[in-house]
Parts: sequence; C-alpha cells; structure tokens
Amino acid sequence: MKATAIAHTNIALIKYWGKRDKTLILPANSSLSMTLDQFYTETTVEWSDAFMTDQFTLNGSRIEDTKVTRFLTILRQQFGMTEKAHVTSTNHVPTAAGLASSASAFAALALAASKAAGREDDDETLSRLARLGSGSASRSIFGDFALWQKGTDDTGIDSYAYPVVAPTELDLAMVVAVVDAGPKKIDSRLGMQSTVETSPYFEAWTATAEKDLLTIQDAFKANDFKIIGETVERNALSMHATTMAATPPFSYLKPASFAIMETVHALRENGIEAYFTMDAGPNVKVLCLTKDEQQVQTALASHTDQVYICHPGPKARVIAHD
Ligand code: PMV
Repeated sequence: MKATAIAHTNIALIKYWGKRDKTLILPANSSLSMTLDQFYTETTVEWSDAFMTDQFTLNGSRIEDTKVTRFLTILRQQFGMTEKAHVTSTNHVPTAAGLASSASAFAALALAASKAAGREDDDETLSRLARLGSGSASRSIFGDFALWQKGTDDTGIDSYAYPVVAPTELDLAMVVAVVDAGPKKIDSRLGMQSTVETSPYFEAWTATAEKDLLTIQDAFKANDFKIIGETVERNALSMHATTMAATPPFSYLKPASFAIMETVHALRENGIEAYFTMDAGPNVKVLCLTKDEQQVQTALASHTDQVYICHPGPKARVIAHD
C-alpha cells in the first residue's frame, strides 16, 4: 500500500485563468503547456488503516496543508477507501527559486496515491484526478506538450489533459528567470476568483484564450515558431490584463519582470527569436529555440543570477511501489 511517483512542473503557453466550477475545478477555457525537464516533485504515499490521521511532510518538515488534506478526502471518495495516508514530498527545484509548483505536486500525489491503492488508472483518469487537486496538475501527468480540454460536462468527466496531437518538430527551450523567490501574496486560486467575479475583461479573456489555442495548435503543426511565440506572449499579457482591471486591481508583475520583457524585445530586435510568459508571480519564462538558449540565458543573467535553461520534460511516472 505504498508507492513513489515523480511528476514534472509545466508552464502554460496558453493559460488556464478562471474556473467555471470551483469545487470540481472546471476551467473557463482550455489551456496548453510545456512540461519542464528541470523541475519536479517526488512523492511517496502510504495508505493504511493503522494510521489515525493523514500526514503530510514537505521537504523534510511536517506541515498542515488544506489543499492536500482536501485532496486526500477526494481521493478516498474516488477510490472507495477509508484508509488514511502518509504523504512525503520533495520538491526538486533550485533552492528558494519560487518555482515549487502545485502542478507537479498534485500530479505526483495523484499518481502515487493511485498506485499505492493498487489501482492501474490510465493517464486520462490520472489527469482528471490530478485536476481535482490543482487545475494545472492535470497537464503534468504528460510530458512534452499537453492540452487540457475544458470539457463540456458539468461532472468534469471530459475535463482532462492529453498530449498535443501534432507536437512540434522545433527544438524548444524555456529559459526561466527567477526575480523573486518569495511566496505569492495572492495565490492563483484567489487571483482567479477575484478576476472571474470582478474583472470586466474576464469574458474577453476566455474568448481570446480559445482563439489563441487554435492559433498555437496550427502553428505547432506548421512548425512556425514566430506565430507560436507571438501567441504565447499575447496570451500571457492578456491574462495579466484581466487582473489589472479587477476590483481591487492587482498584478503579479514587478519592475524586474518588465525589465526582462524589455530585454526579450531587445533580443528580438537583434534577430534572436525569444518570447516571454509569466504566471501567478513575477518570474519570467522565455521561450526560444535551443540554438539561441545560451544567448537568451546571458541576456537574462544581467537581471538575476537565477536563470535556468529547461527543455520539454518527461511524463509522470511511478519509481517504486510495494
Ligand atoms: O493550477 P493552479 O491553481 O496553480 O493555476 C495555475 C494558473 C497559472 O499558472 C497562472 C496558469 C496555468 O495555466 O498554469
């Protein structure tokens, strides 16, 4: 009744931003991501009826985490079990990089919990389960590029991720510039909720995101990096625009984020194809071709000494079980 799994983080090229159902974590729009080779979470789950309570240990310290506790309750319901779980997780991200992600965490937890329960869930089922922990985790079940379809059903049965059908032949890299390693002031759940409830731009965002998704899929098929990059950048800025029009308005971006965006524009003016994206925090991730990754890294290193070159990473996997 014990298993260990690894899942890698992913960065959305077309963002998930806003839920149509908060309990089932059903998104307002579909999204598309790249799984990163460098950053991952390793999680061991043990189910036992000898355990009195659930326990969660993160990076060597016992902690209370309401999202994990809630997720274990959901898993018990889904698996038809009553046993409690001991969960031990380690985030393999550079120290204090601020990149520990709920995506890799809940994907690894879903997979380890399923295997430890003696189940052989397929990837679609695992993606659906991971989604119930954190939306973006649905995509971390898969390697390379994944598409999370929002689904049409109220039950969430058709809201899961799958590998992008025609993955690009381009050799892509994502260069991550860490400008702030601290915890977020407004986590993604709160940020989304506030946007959905108060931002007049939210409706326009969901329509834009669906269009961007079609554009990027065509560009993937055509191996057109310019269109891929321009779509990624526009989509990220559209998402961040929704927060600035919320009540009260907020932004995840810091002066250093804008300085890096300027640098990316300057790189393009000098003939290096590079495009930025940002999530619910100020760190900037720059999509480029592997042939340019060193030059992009050097340019970003003038802003921060924490710059990491990532490539498409592997799918979630079980590394040990009873
Ligand atoms: O899965 P969550 O609740 O951590 O939300 C992720 C939200 C973004 O990272 C901003 C976008 C995305 O699609 O990953």
